[in-house]
Amino acid sequence: MTIPSLSNDSISSLSKLSYADIQSIVADDFEIMDKQVFGSLNSKVQLVMSVSQHVINAGGKRMRPLITLLCARMLNDEPSRQAMHLAAITEMLHTATLVHDDVIDESGQRRGKPTANATWDNATAVLVGDYLIARAFNLLVGFQSLPLLQLFSDGTCDIAEGEVLQLQHQHNPAATEADYLSIIDGKTSRLFMMATQGAAILQDQTQYLSALADFGQHFGNAFQIIDDVLDYSGDSELMGKNLGDDLAEGKPTLPTIKALELLKDSDKDNYEQLRIAVQTGKTPNASELIDLVRHSGSLAYCTKRALEETRLAQQALSHLPDNRYRKGLYQLTELASARLL
Ligand code: IPE
Ligand code: IPE
Ligand code: MG
Ligand code: MG
Repeated sequence: MTIPSLSNDSISSLSKLSYADIQSIVADDFEIMDKQVFGSLNSKVQLVMSVSQHVINAGGKRMRPLITLLCARMLNDEPSRQAMHLAAITEMLHTATLVHDDVIDESGQRRGKPTANATWDNATAVLVGDYLIARAFNLLVGFQSLPLLQLFSDGTCDIAEGEVLQLQHQHNPAATEADYLSIIDGKTSRLFMMATQGAAILQDQTQYLSALADFGQHFGNAFQIIDDVLDYSGDSELMGKNLGDDLAEGKPTLPTIKALELLKDSDKDNYEQLRIAVQTGKTPNASELIDLVRHSGSLAYCTKRALEETRLAQQALSHLPDNRYRKGLYQLTELASARLL
């Protein structure tokens, strides 16, 4: 999938970069940040350490901290220990949301490894996820920055609300695209916004907060829409997590919402089948239903929406300082929309 370049924008003339290339733009910062993600875990309770290390050691792309590091350098090209530290905290919060998400979604695989809930149990995973959030705030206090604490505490409330909203819409075949957007705005895009805006607060460049919010929000939306498409069309091995879960859980993500809308008038029988599957979460004929969504035209619509969100994120970048870090952010949106990460 290719994305049309932005006109009048010097960044569009860049040749393609891989994810490793983008990481290498902030290689030293990235290495320190990655060590801090591990080093920041210091619980006196061994089980907390084992569960946290299990998830953190499993890998992950470290995309949110990469965004923070690129944003911080874009606004002020000096090594910033504070930015590396904040980036590590962002990853810690992300990890906590994944640990909780896997309990809610009853997922068995994450980052190519058994999930915390599958390895231990739900109660342990929920409590250790709570610990990771608490520890992230514990570390945030160290910045002695009320604006930063405000950003992260508001954002964390929004993430939790997004997850609860998603739960409320589980088994609701009448969920709309607007409902879906409110869910992903909270559960996914908010953390992207924290990753971008946090850098501006640290670098004392608050005139860029609004452009960074737009970038984070649209990039987050694009990223989640693509993740939801891949739940229908991706490769479980490559992604390191179970796919096809969303339908089995009766989760009305954009691919299902749009498929229902498209089938409603054109194919009543299949519409009813899919509607009942979402309503009951019972999918004895799962592969048939997945094919139904795939062939409904819905995934093409979702891809178009993800590209629109990507373009909006890229447009937001044009209001930010033009340097190689901004180019890295641009390339990240390109890779994410082609899901080559
Ligand atoms: C997974 O995020 C959760 C979503 C928002 C879809 P990532 O795909 O960034 O997960 P990791 O950190 O690389 O494992
Ligand atoms: C994203 O939702 C999870 C969070 C943002 C917390 P998903 O449920 O789609 O994520 P995966 O597919 O399990 O990674
Ligand atoms: Mg999930
Ligand atoms: Mg998913």
